[in-house]
Amino acid sequence: MMEKIDILISTDIIFDALIAQAEDVPASAEILKLCSENKIKGWITADDYIKIFSCIKENNQLSNNLIEKHLSCLSIIPIRSQTISDAHELNDKDFSDNIKIAAAQSMNIKYFITLKMMNCSRSSVKVMLPADFLKVFNNHNIMFISEKIAFVNLKVQFHQIYNQIDDQINKVINETSFIQGKYVKAFEKNFAKFCKAKHCIGVGNGTDALFIALKALNISRGDEVLLPANSFIATSEAVTMAGASVVFVDCDPETYNIDLNRIRSKITNKTKAIIPVHLYGQPAHMSLISEIAKEYNLNIVQDCAQAHGATFDNKPLADFGDILCFSFYPGKNLGAYGNAGAIVTNDNEIANKVLMFSNHGRKDKYKHEFEGINSRLDDIQGAVLNIKLNYLNQWNDSRRNASILYNTLLEDIELITTPYTLPNVKHVYHLYVIRLKKRNELQAYLSQNNILTGIHYPIALPNLEAYSYLNHKPADFPVASQYQNEILSLPVYPGIAESTVRHVSQIINNFMKKL
Ligand SMILES: Cc1ncc(COP(=O)(O)O)c(C=O)c1O
Repeated sequence: MMEKIDILISTDIIFDALIAQAEDVPASAEILKLCSENKIKGWITADDYIKIFSCIKENNQLSNNLIEKHLSCLSIIPIRSQTISDAHELNDKDFSDNIKIAAAQSMNIKYFITLKMMNCSRSSVKVMLPADFLKVFNNHNIMFISEKIAFVNLKVQFHQIYNQIDDQINKVINETSFIQGKYVKAFEKNFAKFCKAKHCIGVGNGTDALFIALKALNISRGDEVLLPANSFIATSEAVTMAGASVVFVDCDPETYNIDLNRIRSKITNKTKAIIPVHLYGQPAHMSLISEIAKEYNLNIVQDCAQAHGATFDNKPLADFGDILCFSFYPGKNLGAYGNAGAIVTNDNEIANKVLMFSNHGRKDKYKHEFEGINSRLDDIQGAVLNIKLNYLNQWNDSRRNASILYNTLLEDIELITTPYTLPNVKHVYHLYVIRLKKRNELQAYLSQNNILTGIHYPIALPNLEAYSYLNHKPADFPVASQYQNEILSLPVYPGIAESTVRHVSQIINNFMKKL
């Protein structure tokens, strides 16, 4: 686990490395080696790539193996018209160097490595000689800690897949295939396969997914739907949007998911469905929820917005209940580059209804069989999600490793409760949430130490003003009402460095020692 430094490499570095003899390894070759070992993220501009490639092709003495070795590990930054305008703004003498600096700036790359000493005062990009850069690299941890630690840093994953994303988005635009086109269809097929389910239908966002799921189950006015007291408001909003009544159930004191012991007392003859939310990435107890649903003839709509890739009892979540609803909001485990969502089901009839409802109640262009809504996944999001899906397991593992390390480093602190994980689940750690009485003080202390955190959620749903019409008191939901003041979400995202997790834990330890 290592948060990588991004560097832009100049042509002279590559040539320096290419002509190096085996016994004499210059810093340039060492830098390229670090890139090929995936320890540094190396970039090259498109014009430099062309320059090197043509030169190598003309020079028969340099073998294809060398080309492969030195260029294949680098990602290419395209030169766009914006890069050219930015280069003009830089106004330094050498326009070709300005292009490099502007290209690095466009990708948030901090270092430009070249053999040429130059001064670029107008840009935040640091121009460095390879040997000087190696010194910085070896001090990476010290440097890194002086920067702000984001709660979620999406740049790490973006840089990993940048070229694929760039190519695919350009394809969508060139093919003018914008809505429910082949990129959406391909993603739907792949995501259904990933979920081990028969159908996936892309929709506009996760909130719509929940609403459409309830509509597909014919849930409407007069019906009651059970859901946990601690979730994002989208879960309950969808119920109200469908015309049904929201019925909150307190959360389990250990898992923070819906409390199985409190579900039965909330069931009436109007109850039609239950929405378990797999909060923070840990599945709710799906086999017991399924038993209750069977006993009372309730539909199950799973809110999987935080649980892409989670499993229960070694089974995919699609094995339980009627419908799974996903959000692909950018920060989710599988996140789009805008709003997006999906519904996953094994039921042909439900799939058909969802498909039609989310597209104005139609299958054919102007044959509307009923009124629906416009909630379609667009192809730019489909293309992005399709690429990212290939990395989801790897990124979930990265979240899990970071969370396990947090557990090890924090579980001995008496006043902090680390997450409890059911033994039979695969938790995908959308969030890593600790609990303590001095939550606000710790959050402020972490912020003073440049560490950003979150609270999910600071006001439990029944206590929100939006639900004051239900006349609930905090005491009606004792666990959710207590925990809303104690929970704290620590930084966790794919690619988070081990050193970051250790540093955050160290600062937490420092704070606790002062109490
Ligand atoms: C538990 C839960 N449900 C539903 C949603 C709604 O998803 P979206 O923002 O895509 O509408 C979210 C997203 O934040 C969520 O966390």
